[in-house]
Amino acid sequence: MRDFLKALPKAELHLHIEGTLEPELMMALAERNGVTLPYASVEEVRAAYDFEDLASFLDVYFQGMSVLHTARDFEDLAMDYFRRAAAEGVVHVEMHVDPQAHLARGVAMDTLMEGLERARRRAASELDLSTALILAFLRDRPAEEALEALEQAVPHLERLDAVGLDSAEVGHPPGKFAVVFRRAAELGLARVAHAGEEGPPAYIREALDRLDVCRVDHGVRCLEDEALVERLRAEARVLTVCPLSNLRLKVVERLEAHPLPAMLEAGLTLTLNSDDPAYFGGGMLDNFLACERAFGWSRETFTRLAGNAIEAGFMSETRRDALRERLAAMQVPPGG
Ligand code: HPA
Ligand code: ZN
Repeated sequence: MRDFLKALPKAELHLHIEGTLEPELMMALAERNGVTLPYASVEEVRAAYDFEDLASFLDVYFQGMSVLHTARDFEDLAMDYFRRAAAEGVVHVEMHVDPQAHLARGVAMDTLMEGLERARRRAASELDLSTALILAFLRDRPAEEALEALEQAVPHLERLDAVGLDSAEVGHPPGKFAVVFRRAAELGLARVAHAGEEGPPAYIREALDRLDVCRVDHGVRCLEDEALVERLRAEARVLTVCPLSNLRLKVVERLEAHPLPAMLEAGLTLTLNSDDPAYFGGGMLDNFLACERAFGWSRETFTRLAGNAIEAGFMSETRRDALRERLAAMQVPPGG
């Protein structure tokens, strides 16, 4: 099964590029840029990854990204991840980036865009990996600041596929960003938003109604609202679920208790994703393997989930056709 899941052409729709920063690269970049971290070794960094909830993770995540300064840093960060991802059978990566977190540290929009763009070109030519970029807004910051970040990104519009919404969810409903997302729509960008990770199902509704999102990131609390589940099913809305993230941030106590099987049973359109692989104990393949262990899913189920991601990804139709073909070539025995 491991070989099968590795070979499965996996498209990743929910990933924070800053969340791919492995402790080794964090230490190396701290050294290269003269940044002082509160950790003396890679082991100490790893020891700090014992999270209680989303907030306790975000503290460590924003601290970690303080080592990123130059375009080369962003290029190294993304290439480091793209290589690992490609080695485990990932064929397409859509990365969120948090510009406000970098602008606040004095890193220019042009710097991060240039570094990510270089990595994306290399991913396409060196790894046959397609990529997309999602400009994410920090929902615990004012909407005006998000709008300002969006305007600063306009010169890079060609490189952007969508806007997203992340960071501390509870107390920051999607509606707060209605104006920002309307502007993104005017600019021709698709919209996605984190909702229903720690926040209530009402936030998922609000993301659909007020932000006009095509996908909901996480969305695992939708099951608490039957009418919402029916709507998500009827509209075939895509949810980007991140099993190991939910486990590590204690959204669920054990993976066996994760709502994923019930969500599948309810007929929802789901994808599997890694969210912040450096912090949550594994990349795409680890997430697929963890689901296999916890839920005993068949090859057919994993193939369906991989297919959902290929259908929902921001990619050219030529690329989508190529990935569909690769998926169709996977041998799945009847009922297997
Ligand atoms: N949720 C919200 N914000 C985030 C996450 C997440 O899982 N990862 C990085 N920023
Ligand atoms: Zn996320």
